[in-house]
Amino acid sequence: MNDLDQLVAQATADFAAAHTPAALEDAKARLLGKAGRVTELLKGLAGATPDEKKTRGAAINQAKQRIEAALTARRQALADAELEAQLKAEALDVTLPGRQRGNGGLHPVSLTIERIESIFASMGFDVAEGPEIETDWMSFTALNNPENHPARSMQDTFYVDLQDEGGRWYNLRPHTSPMQLRYARAHSAKYAAQIARGEPIPEIRVIAPGRTYRIDSDATHTPMFHQCEGVWMGENVSFKDLKVVFTDFCRRFFETDALTLRFRPSFFPFTEPSAEIDIAFAEGPLKGKWLEVAGSGQVHPNVVRNYGLDPERHIGFAFGMGPDRLAMLRYGVNDLRLFFENDLRFLQQFR
Ligand code: PHE
Repeated sequence: MNDLDQLVAQATADFAAAHTPAALEDAKARLLGKAGRVTELLKGLAGATPDEKKTRGAAINQAKQRIEAALTARRQALADAELEAQLKAEALDVTLPGRQRGNGGLHPVSLTIERIESIFASMGFDVAEGPEIETDWMSFTALNNPENHPARSMQDTFYVDLQDEGGRWYNLRPHTSPMQLRYARAHSAKYAAQIARGEPIPEIRVIAPGRTYRIDSDATHTPMFHQCEGVWMGENVSFKDLKVVFTDFCRRFFETDALTLRFRPSFFPFTEPSAEIDIAFAEGPLKGKWLEVAGSGQVHPNVVRNYGLDPERHIGFAFGMGPDRLAMLRYGVNDLRLFFENDLRFLQQFR
């Protein structure tokens, strides 16, 4: 092996020992760079005879070409290895299950409220919403509650630590009944104008679902719960109409005609007479049991006055039901607290 073969062998070994592109370029510089060994060899020909230049020069150039070929091959090998490593690092296992976004769904109580809204809307009821922080007047006084009524007590009602310039105290509404007043008062001027023009007594037909609050906590009571108020007032809307509307509602809500309604005499300051509405199923797991679903009654004249209307002209009923309770009955849930613990194992069943 002559010196040039040796040089080529050495170069090939140097290149093979370079494991990064930078190390490879260093090795190249040591051989082919300005002061590299091949360059030095070529410079060394300066003083040679023309014949020597020819043979030796050709041999050096041939060696140089072999070195360049080895360099190119090594560069390619390094690039291939890098690509391979990169592909390996980014490897996709197409058999892995994808990362799912998780499908959301409505809460069972929201589903229930939507159901209530659509059934009452189909019977011509408007749907209204109102504030959860109420004045004493809206929650109690205007609804004909005497000053010392127990419902006002700190044991039953959450008070907000806030008093406005008028010295009024606020509470977290303990029922949706203030919405009777808010809705009627928002429309009473329009009704008065219609009556003044000699038009028939305009009807109020509205439901108002929403959150309500009481100091109460066990398997069937939570401090936050839901109610849905309903009002139907007109020239002479009676208990009979309430029975028709509510029976129709219950049959559609529970998707069965095998269901009866019962009015059980009761008391609310804002209605007279007043009744609890019970229902009983004629079949199914709850067969034959009377279940309380709403409070109701003919709106008290004092309250109609606070609506801004004339109790001699506007006559009708109001009711207040519990969507949470309706959801429990419809879905067969036995503990109200399950609705508000946000346990996905429970909630996902309603998707
Ligand atoms: N507000 C009453 C309650 O919370 C329910 C009710 C509403 C009763 C309307 C009669 C009329 O218990």
